[in-house]
Amino acid sequence: GRVVVLYGGESAEREVSLKSGEAVVAALQRQGVAPIAFDPAEGGLAGLEALTPDRVFIALHGRGGEDGTMQGALELLGVPYTGSGVLASALGMDKQRSKLVWQAMGLPTPECVMLSEQADWDAVVEQLGLPLIVKPVHEGSTLGITIVESAAALAAAYRDAVRYDARVMAERFVRGAEYTVSVLGDVALPAIRVEVPGGFYDYEAKYLSDETRYHLPCGLSEDDERKLADLCLEAFAAIGCQGWGRVDVMGDDQGRFWLLEVNTVPGMTDHSLVPQAAAHAGIDFDSLVMRILDTADR
Ligand code: DAL
Ligand code: MG
Repeated sequence: GRVVVLYGGESAEREVSLKSGEAVVAALQRQGVAPIAFDPAEGGLAGLEALTPDRVFIALHGRGGEDGTMQGALELLGVPYTGSGVLASALGMDKQRSKLVWQAMGLPTPECVMLSEQADWDAVVEQLGLPLIVKPVHEGSTLGITIVESAAALAAAYRDAVRYDARVMAERFVRGAEYTVSVLGDVALPAIRVEVPGGFYDYEAKYLSDETRYHLPCGLSEDDERKLADLCLEAFAAIGCQGWGRVDVMGDDQGRFWLLEVNTVPGMTDHSLVPQAAAHAGIDFDSLVMRILDTADR
């Protein structure tokens, strides 16, 4: 059957998606699948439909690709696609509403407050403490995110974030280590601890810097890594995610884990985390791509 790889798109993560898509296409070619690479920003939905795909590999990040809208279009076209369905994709793209689900299920996630131009900045600082993190609710790759060290800096951080998204939140800062757990099928791959010397895991550290360190194994005890993996699988299931994805977590100084977000189409670039975790579990990049492609058949 004809496999179409969707990549590019119009979100702020377009450049990342082009890299993910190119890597996926190359892997599929090596595996004897002759994929068609398609950029919905150029060809539109009509162009996609005209390709009469049998299966779609979604390598789009961010809005218009990872957020349930493309998934809904593919449902209407009757074309099977990789990864999560409409609801989980939409929910996973919304960092605030993901938290509401996790909180309702008793899963740990740092407290957050929604911001607006009229926000009482001092009250926000009072509630969450400093530093705190300001984030656009629907964005990826750390775009528009600021660590705020003082009440005076909060309004500027809000204005930076609101360029990306009308909905902006402030989140309690968790001091400690950043972990990420990749999920493939219903299995958690080995956790990775991400360390950014002297900084935080922002866009630069994710895609451009050579200094970012990926600890794999992550350095947790076997017990703690099991706890982390179980938490991430629960968080993934709570959002209704399917197929594959990645859950980002902070571990605090008391050994507690705090859920930050789930990514339903995580990066597949050569710097990306899921391919690293898979490799550590003995799944090479090509096999990983084939297994993700198989998640379209459900
Ligand atoms: N949003 C980026 C692509 C990631 O989560 O890997
Ligand atoms: Mg994300």
